[in-house]
Amino acid sequence: MSRKKSADTYAQPSLFDEPISLSDKDIKAQIEHLRAELHRHNRNYYVLNAPEISDQEFDAMMRELQELERANPQYFDPNSPTQRVGSDLGSGGFPTVRHERPMLSLGNTYNRAEVTEFYERIKDGLDGEPFQICCELKFDGLSISLLYEEGRLIRAVTRGDGVQGDDVTANVRTIRSVPLVLNSSDKVVNPWPARFEIRGEVLMPWDSFNNLNAERAEAEEPLFANPRNAASGSLKTKDSSVVAHRGLDAYLYFLLGSDIPTESHYQNMQTAKSWGFKVSEHTRLASSVDEIFEFIDYWDEARHRLPFAIDGIVLKVDSIAQQQKLGYTAKSPRWAIAYKYKAERARTRLLSVSYQVGRTGAVTPVANMEPVDLAGTVVRRASLHNEDIILGLDLRQGDYVYVEKAGEIIPQIVGVDKSARIESLKPAIEFPDHCPACGHELVRVEGEAAHYCPNEAGCPPQIKGKIEHFISRDAMNIGSLGPETVDDYYERGLIHNAADLYMLRLEDLAGTDLSREVSARKILAAIEQSKQASLDRVIFALGIRFVGKVVARLLSQHYHSLDALRTASQEDLGEVEGVGNIIAESVVRWFSDPDNLQFLERLRSFGVRMEEENQTVLSEKLKDKSIVISGTFQKHSREEYKNLIFLHGGKNASSISNKTSFILAGENMGPSKLEKAQKLGIPLMNEDEFLQLIETNT
Ligand code: IVH
Repeated sequence: MSRKKSADTYAQPSLFDEPISLSDKDIKAQIEHLRAELHRHNRNYYVLNAPEISDQEFDAMMRELQELERANPQYFDPNSPTQRVGSDLGSGGFPTVRHERPMLSLGNTYNRAEVTEFYERIKDGLDGEPFQICCELKFDGLSISLLYEEGRLIRAVTRGDGVQGDDVTANVRTIRSVPLVLNSSDKVVNPWPARFEIRGEVLMPWDSFNNLNAERAEAEEPLFANPRNAASGSLKTKDSSVVAHRGLDAYLYFLLGSDIPTESHYQNMQTAKSWGFKVSEHTRLASSVDEIFEFIDYWDEARHRLPFAIDGIVLKVDSIAQQQKLGYTAKSPRWAIAYKYKAERARTRLLSVSYQVGRTGAVTPVANMEPVDLAGTVVRRASLHNEDIILGLDLRQGDYVYVEKAGEIIPQIVGVDKSARIESLKPAIEFPDHCPACGHELVRVEGEAAHYCPNEAGCPPQIKGKIEHFISRDAMNIGSLGPETVDDYYERGLIHNAADLYMLRLEDLAGTDLSREVSARKILAAIEQSKQASLDRVIFALGIRFVGKVVARLLSQHYHSLDALRTASQEDLGEVEGVGNIIAESVVRWFSDPDNLQFLERLRSFGVRMEEENQTVLSEKLKDKSIVISGTFQKHSREEYKNLIFLHGGKNASSISNKTSFILAGENMGPSKLEKAQKLGIPLMNEDEFLQLIETNT
């Protein structure tokens, strides 16, 4: 979906359109205006699916707000739309918060007879009063409790043990469909209570899940078994800037509080929808048990077409008064029940487990099984992920196992049919302690489940894997070389790493065999052509851990050259939007390895691009200058100044240090920066002086 174009929605003039000086009051008003507009457009896009403006217009407004907030920290608001990008929580865990009302779970059934029994129990409990049942999807994610005061998100807490959960507010703020500030246009018609709690489910839609797992497979990180685990793992990530990129969504299904709008649960949820919450449109009121079964049967089939996973349906008595009359048991409400669908799973026999070594050295166990049909495809292999999974399943060779499929990624073994286990079966499957490919002793990093072979320079599948990654389509795109050819060249001793590709000669590839000459020439031409690959491709091709395509692009846009990236500090890297601590650390580690630096130098000597394309530098006036930008400007935006610094050969640094050459200071420069600059004796330059400096012809 793309935001639609519209001319007049963003009619308020931009601060940077004309060089006027704004009073503090004007700035505050402009900040508030931009926040309200961005909240509204966010809702149009993520909740209503009906964007009014283009992505570019949205981004422009967001950038303007970011600049204003950065320059005017006194107006900080945790619920500002800019805060959805996330921040790092640090090393501590999440604070524990006690729920004001316990978060109960639901009684489960897989059985239609029990649905009828539930219906009869309600009928009896209500002494023959008429009642309706609200039929809802049972979202397969993790439940969340959101607290709002005066229409603003105050706190988000996971279910935890039902009595207390983790405060994950910073992470939940990054979920675009969760309103940070409620929709004010509906306040008059449907006023929201001054304080209320709303509960729902945080989930990861299939698209996000498949993308995430594909990225993780590419980076040889452990895959998530299903969207629920992925959603839960994401929400509990300490760095909310990582969460912001995970594509989570949230559906709300339960409103609590002393003065909620109506007597009907269904109506309350519709009202909540008008306040800006995402509420499922697939909810129906049923007046008979037959209507309930119609809903169950319809979704048993139609659920496969939903963009997210559901694992059943939830039935709730609609009237709040009747809910109260029916009450609760110690564990769950008497007025609601969950009917669960049976997962699509198959039973087959485990023949053996093999171990694959990837380009990062990660060792992945793979189960080889007797072929079995599962949801229309024949399954032979399943990922076992890591040693903990094998131990958890208590897996033995020859066991009968259950397999399930989640998304497009390979199937998983979810259980063992222990009743079919034969006494004489071999003992438990044991993870090897040496690399199956090169024999080097394996290591298991503390806190990680995966085993690694540390023999980076001498383990063939790692070497070949790195070369394959280097030539792959999203990296250097050397199309005419495939994994088999790489394998062949490696075995023949022609290449030991990707840089060797640039030394290949026609006679190496074709020898005296004329029939191979045509394809050999094609390969050499493709290798030559790859020297022109854009900087982001080159960065991606290096195979730095956690640097996928997207991050590589961010790094290339920010640093413009491999030299600038190589010398960036961890702190500096961490400030690039979309780059968290883990990535920053991994980049610094990669560039601190002498072997990698040598590899880079060889690539450079062969003529591989190390700088951004078409970025002809305008002058060298700012050569060797490290410049910090602070405050707001009249003539150019901050991004434009960053670019000007780059185009004149300088470096833009994010924080002041004794290496800073000068500060490009706009209005309202932050007091702490000013103090630091004075303390270190760093000169300030205003924008006119700066523009003059780069414009003079000397
Ligand atoms: S209502 C007291 N509605 O299922 C009633 N729960 O097995 C509270 N769930 O913990 C829950 N979709 O995480 C409700 N439409 C829905 C739901 C739903 C998914 C989850 C929720 C709950 C679990 C209970």
